[in-house]
Amino acid sequence: MFYEPKKKNHGLPKNPFNSLVIPRPIGWISSADKQGTHNLAPYSFFNAVSYSPPTVMFSGGVGSASDGMKDSIRNIEATGEFVCNIATWDTREQMNKSSKNLPPEEDEISLSNLTAISSNLVGAPRIKEAPVHLECRYLKSVDIPGWTDADAYRVIFGEVIGIHINDDFITDEGLVDVAKMLVIGRLGYNDYTRVDGDSLFTLNRPG
Ligand SMILES: Cc1cc2nc3c(=O)[nH]c(=O)nc-3n(C[C@H](O)[C@H](O)[C@H](O)COP(=O)(O)O)c2cc1C
Repeated sequence: MFYEPKKKNHGLPKNPFNSLVIPRPIGWISSADKQGTHNLAPYSFFNAVSYSPPTVMFSGGVGSASDGMKDSIRNIEATGEFVCNIATWDTREQMNKSSKNLPPEEDEISLSNLTAISSNLVGAPRIKEAPVHLECRYLKSVDIPGWTDADAYRVIFGEVIGIHINDDFITDEGLVDVAKMLVIGRLGYNDYTRVDGDSLFTLNRPG
């Protein structure tokens, strides 16, 4: 089949786009407002984009017909700091719960029965239950226009200035034990995948 997204002529019951660019890593973004109120939300429009310095991005809907300006984006643009926590199989229910659209004064970390711990270099909290935390300094925002104002997105870029890895997930050989960590990724619709020992394979790059 072929379709043109703007014509919405795929003829399928649901928009297939989210099922095509998969699996998407989940940036579980924690931040705080200037008064120190914590915020947490998952973003699957998330990825790493460079090595030196390590840089990450996530993209949030900011249109009026969605749920308006995301608290994460408002906090990060105001304070210049955030943390990407890595979501895993063990925290999947809490991750999902933390996507609830709550007013800014409500803290999704306690709502999701998670533990906020302080970061080393930024004011934003880390999620204790996550095996990896990327402490980020806000770099810039890029607006992505929508077909209508309601469809607009904003991409937040951050430089990773501090990285925590739970030592339980470092192998004796000094590698990150992704098979043990059981990181989850987003597929289309409400589906997810899990990285485990069975799904891993190695390909050596051609010389
Ligand atoms: C797995 C998952 C991935 C999500 N990815 C995104 C995303 O990439 N962009 C977005 O705008 N919303 C995304 N959402 C919805 C947000 O998490 C939700 O709107 C949340 O309330 C935003 O919180 P905030 O206003 O505290 O930032 C996702 C939800 C889930 C469960």
